[in-house]
Amino acid sequence: MGAAKNKNGSIVSHHSQANFDETPQPAFYVLLLARFNVFVMVFGAFVASLLDRLGLVENKCKKDDVRLKDFAPIDNHFDAMYTNHIYRLSTDVVNRPISGVPGAIVRLKDRYTDDHGWTQKFTGSESEVINLGSYNYLGFSHCSGSCAEEAAAYIDRYGVACSGTRQERGNHSVHKKVERTIADYLSVEDAIVFPMGFATNAMNIPALVDKGSLILSDRLNHASLVTGCRLSGATIKVFRHNDAAHCEQVLRDALCSVSPRTGQKYNKILIIIEGIYSMEGTIVNLPGFIEIKKKYRAYLFLDEAHSIGAVGPTGRGVAEYWGCNTRDIDIMMGTLTKSFASAGGYMAGTKRLIDHIRRYSAGTCYGTTMSPPLIAQVEKAVAIMCGTDGTQIGRQKSTQLLENSRYFRQKLKALGFLVYGNDDSPVVPLMTFYITKVVEFSRRALKHNIGIVAVGYPATPLLEARVRFCLSADHTREHLDYILKVIEKIGNETNTMYGKSLF
Ligand SMILES: Cc1ncc(COP(=O)(O)O)c(C=O)c1O
Ligand SMILES: *[C@@H]1O[C@H](CO)[C@@H](O)[C@H](O)[C@H]1NC(C)=O
Ligand SMILES: *[C@@H]1O[C@H](CO)[C@@H](O)[C@H](O)[C@H]1NC(C)=O
Repeated sequence: MGAAKNKNGSIVSHHSQANFDETPQPAFYVLLLARFNVFVMVFGAFVASLLDRLGLVENKCKKDDVRLKDFAPIDNHFDAMYTNHIYRLSTDVVNRPISGVPGAIVRLKDRYTDDHGWTQKFTGSESEVINLGSYNYLGFSHCSGSCAEEAAAYIDRYGVACSGTRQERGNHSVHKKVERTIADYLSVEDAIVFPMGFATNAMNIPALVDKGSLILSDRLNHASLVTGCRLSGATIKVFRHNDAAHCEQVLRDALCSVSPRTGQKYNKILIIIEGIYSMEGTIVNLPGFIEIKKKYRAYLFLDEAHSIGAVGPTGRGVAEYWGCNTRDIDIMMGTLTKSFASAGGYMAGTKRLIDHIRRYSAGTCYGTTMSPPLIAQVEKAVAIMCGTDGTQIGRQKSTQLLENSRYFRQKLKALGFLVYGNDDSPVVPLMTFYITKVVEFSRRALKHNIGIVAVGYPATPLLEARVRFCLSADHTREHLDYILKVIEKIGNETNTMYGKSLF
């Protein structure tokens, strides 16, 4: 918790009244009609795939792999039908390649299709759009400036590769240095870095728990956490999203019986949560989970992929945001891909924990280590956030991000849109419910030179399509006002202002 002065000299509190009220719901007929819409689409897709199989229509995919008919199909039937006949019609709004730095403005490669979306071809031209889709929360994604210069200096000094694992020849002095930097930033004893965020979770959870353990996992935890949990072989119980009381209830129920894997009492309990949920924009109820962790002597694992850098006056994440002690969080994990605009992930905590990971994690034993210029980017970004570079730039960045997040979200709500998540979160999901509407939303925004991310099935449930805005400290008030004006127009045209309750 804390306060910072913004440019106008007024105090900005970094901690607003957190809201754990129920997720806002649209009027009942919205979900009913959205369900009907999905039904019609899936029915249409089913008929189309039937015609396909009877050979009555041309199907590009089929033509290319006739040989496959002798094998069991690689894909699941529903997903294949969805991809070929629903998703295909929206390939213009997804996987849009960028061809520049993902800052507040980004360059996109223009594309067209001449085969109903089976393929997208480049026109050869490019356009510049206001970028609301990158995880560039603090605006460190630049190709010039002090971070980029430091990265270039590291390449001159050390090259790009370390060419070995941590336990063999890849243990470079720069790793030790950045690990100290991260541990100090988080006020914990020690830290270790890995070259990929996803692998940091997938490779390290199995080093912490085994088949005799119990994992309590938030229903909306990221795929990397789910992968790590499954690889560990532990018994996994899921609790309702960000609901500490439900977590406690599930935990108590589980403790009434023994581990189904070993037939014995659980050897340890691990609660896994995220700082900010990237599809919901929720900030975790950290004090609630710390209380449970203490009460049941469970370990707490916190993934700060989207919250490190992005909340708290010096970007130290949800512990700083809530005013919690980081020593109450047993395993602090985060990625270096988002706020710090680098690549890789870290685990931080007690020296004992980190030494254990150094020794037993598949990631340290079998994977090569993080590249020096990526480390330079992290070193410099953290120095700026702490103010050890001697400037106020870090403070200004976090204040700007917070102001942008609150301003944008409040304006969207005032316009009548239905948005999920916490007021202070830089991730702002605008609910369109219908997949067809989210696609149209994205197309229309692009016509006004705004690049947004449209999210639908399978990343969300079929009925919960949404636009996911990611704000950045690099967005100016002019950017946001222009975007809000365009979004109001698109909201009118697509009839997606579901926050205006009619019933
Ligand atoms: C919560 C969470 N954990 C881990 C990751 C994986 O990190 P990376 O993309 O750096 O591999 C992500 C990525 O989006 C994430 O959202
Ligand atoms: C790597 O080197 C550091 C010293 O720079 C040492 O402390 C550490 O134990 C080494 N090994 C691993 C696996 O990190
Ligand atoms: C959207 O609709 C409202 C109400 O019909 C109207 O007042 C407003 O001017 C419209 N905005 C835009 C940008 O078209």
